[in-house]
Amino acid sequence: MGDLSPNKAELDPIEIASIDEIRATQLERLKWSVRHAYDNVAMYKQRFDEVGVHPDDLQQLSDLSKFPFTYKNDLRDNYPFGLFAVPRSELIRLHASSGTTGKPTVVGYTKGDIENWADLVARSLRAAGLRKGDMVHNAYGYGLFTGGLGAHYGIERLGATVVPMSGGQTEKQVGLITDFQPDGIMVTPSYMLNILEQFHKAGLDPKKSSLKVGIFGAEPWTDAMRTEVEAAFDMHAVDIYGLSEIMGPGVASECVETKDGPVIWEDHFLPEIIDPATGEVLPDGETGELVFTTLTKEGLPMIRYRTRDLTCLMPGTARSMRRMAKITGRSDDMMILRGVNVFPSQIEEQVMATGGLSPYYQIELYKSGRMDAMRVFVEASADSTDEMSRTAAARMLTKRIKDVVGVSTEIVVGDPGDVERSQGKAKRVIDNRDKD
Ligand code: DLL
Repeated sequence: MGDLSPNKAELDPIEIASIDEIRATQLERLKWSVRHAYDNVAMYKQRFDEVGVHPDDLQQLSDLSKFPFTYKNDLRDNYPFGLFAVPRSELIRLHASSGTTGKPTVVGYTKGDIENWADLVARSLRAAGLRKGDMVHNAYGYGLFTGGLGAHYGIERLGATVVPMSGGQTEKQVGLITDFQPDGIMVTPSYMLNILEQFHKAGLDPKKSSLKVGIFGAEPWTDAMRTEVEAAFDMHAVDIYGLSEIMGPGVASECVETKDGPVIWEDHFLPEIIDPATGEVLPDGETGELVFTTLTKEGLPMIRYRTRDLTCLMPGTARSMRRMAKITGRSDDMMILRGVNVFPSQIEEQVMATGGLSPYYQIELYKSGRMDAMRVFVEASADSTDEMSRTAAARMLTKRIKDVVGVSTEIVVGDPGDVERSQGKAKRVIDNRDKD
């Protein structure tokens, strides 16, 4: 793996500005954003009035904690365009997330929002070690999902060549990577494993691919997965974070020189960590729910939006802005087994650490009597499909999950290819608790 660290002169000055300068920019922008929301979105006016806060009450950054939270349901309740702060005719793009229940959530962008988004994705790509003139294979899905187009405009903004492949057609993905020789790839980490498998099927050595860096996000992934993918492709793997309600990919992104958690682009988004139960703001370093306030969004300003993602804030390293720890999971992904809280990522770590297994897994929740129980489906790796190896791997994984995570599980070691392959965001948990 080569050194891809960017030169300081290539960065946006604000990325390495003093903390005082960053906080001053945030305060000025925050005042604008809160007023913009209050003046132009009926829901914000009503909510602020109800609790007796006014944009004028915002004199310092910590005053934000007096303002009410915004929830995903607020987008659903105001479906489709009720939270937009500008006339629909000023929006040049809409995106939507399907959501598992009910109506989709719709987001909209002005021309200025799209400009900022492209700038921030370009900044994220530079942090990942890519530069003008490089080529980037974009396998995030194009369409209503923010991943494909969000990445696309950022790649162009950087001055790199974009290959707008989108998701799916794995054989073709590998063919294009081999023929076009891109420097970088943008894709969900679970789909990258699918691409890796296709390299092997095609008899190609992934280490010999042209890829120097992968920019992975849109779903949780562990450092164990990073190690696996970096070794398989002999490339860097960095984490990109984002959500449609706040912008899309590029709200935060990891620096290739440190790989120590995504840097939050704090000149556009103000993060807070709160206790999800009480709503109280927690100090940096403590884990809780990530809450964002947009500082520059014109179309859809979000004030104290509850992401449901669990993480903590950490001081800047490669940049002055704060970092977030890799997301361990979403509060809604948390499983509770006999009183123990478990996230899919904790199971992933143990699958990766167990010999004789490939990195694919899926978790099934079911009822055992009146208790919730968990079954983990994994696959024998191609060189360990004999009965003895499978039994040993199952025993080892059961023990690891019991020792490290603290829960008892049933492990099913299938044949290579048995676990459903991801086409984008992986479905890690199948909930069969309603079935007998
Ligand atoms: O997934 C935006 C995105 C696209 C980010 C491509 C990165 C790359 P949504 O579909 O709205 O937007 O889903 C947002 O996905 O709240 C997290 O729970 C999860 N998520 C996104 N990035 C990461 C990440 C896009 N790097 C939701 N690590 C978020 C863990 C992530 N979870």
